[in-house]
Amino acid sequence: MTVFASEMMGGYAGERVLVTGGAGFVGSHLCDRLLALGSRVDVLDDLSTGSAANIPLGIGRFIERDVSASDPLPDYDVIFHLACPASPPRYQADPVATFRTAVFGTVRMLEEAWRTGARILIASTSEIYGDPQEHPQKESYWGHVNPIGLRSCYDEGKRAAETVATDYRRKYGIDLRMVRIFNTYGPRMDPFDGRVVSNFIRQGLLGLPLTLYGDGSQTRSFCFVSDLVEGILRLGALPDEPGREAPVNLGNPGEFTIGELADIVEEVLGSSLGRVNHPLPSDDPRRRRPDIARAEHLLGWSPQVPLRQGIALTVENFRGRPEELLSDRNPSSAPRQGAPSR
Ligand SMILES: NC(=O)c1ccc[n+]([C@@H]2O[C@H](COP(=O)([O-])OP(=O)(O)OC[C@H]3O[C@@H](n4cnc5c(N)ncnc54)[C@H](O)[C@@H]3O)[C@@H](O)[C@H]2O)c1
Repeated sequence: MTVFASEMMGGYAGERVLVTGGAGFVGSHLCDRLLALGSRVDVLDDLSTGSAANIPLGIGRFIERDVSASDPLPDYDVIFHLACPASPPRYQADPVATFRTAVFGTVRMLEEAWRTGARILIASTSEIYGDPQEHPQKESYWGHVNPIGLRSCYDEGKRAAETVATDYRRKYGIDLRMVRIFNTYGPRMDPFDGRVVSNFIRQGLLGLPLTLYGDGSQTRSFCFVSDLVEGILRLGALPDEPGREAPVNLGNPGEFTIGELADIVEEVLGSSLGRVNHPLPSDDPRRRRPDIARAEHLLGWSPQVPLRQGIALTVENFRGRPEELLSDRNPSSAPRQGAPSR
């Protein structure tokens, strides 16, 4: 049996925890682990990109509402703030709502952390590095982001969220943690979220050719969701100390071209699929790879699940949801043939 360091630290047992975005892909896995660690978990989610089916049995309250709403909340010991659409077709469907969620939703949760003294962990993103001119990306890199592009509602929204969170720490001394999450995949991904892993697996299972944007030579790193959640839990369990608020990259440093990913999906499915090439979307980064030295040093963390194994686990999960492969539960916000190579 794997012994996770977060368990050895004994964190979370009996703590009252709020997970915003807990009906989403990452949030639902985080809830599972928190429940297993003995936390009392509530979920706040508006189900805009998540699904009630993802919410684990065993949580306390499900609070269905916009994360920015000012309605009162119970007191918590810990807040994991993940609520925000995360894939380009989803966040671009209503860019103003995305920016509001990223910024006002974060401010709302920071207010709550300040009011109650809860420690708060905020999910930021590798998107804050934009189309990076440094490779791999260290936390000290300030990024290369277009402030007025199609992705800016998300990229700049998350950058502003980091800014305001850091200022709450400076001004009010809240107990803050921030993770910059790089591409994560795994069971319970939305098959129509437009990310490259879900696109390929959905298309492959339906026997369709795989859609490649550009020539498929752009690279990405892919982190399996259990690895990500372990890193989040370890960071959230550390005692508060000066500097703890600085963002930590969490992702898998293994770098693959999109073409290589297509080959792996094909291999796992055991079928030969064609390829269809589409033009690269605007502001699509050419390369993305985390420098995880800070996470390794601070948390003793590094990803454990190899890509091929993670893809096989994800394929198995997708096979168990055949009806979801055929229809998008969020049709207004995602193109059928998927989108950028996230
Ligand atoms: N999955 C990744 O690869 C990745 C990469 C970088 C960052 N992140 C961050 O991790 C977090 C979770 O991402 P995910 O992949 O699980 O996405 P997801 O879309 O599956 O989950 C997001 C959840 O937030 C909820 N939500 C969205 N807007 C809301 C609002 N205004 N009020 C209340 N709930 C709202 C959705 O209904 C959904 O359940 C996000 O903050 C995202 O930016 C994820």
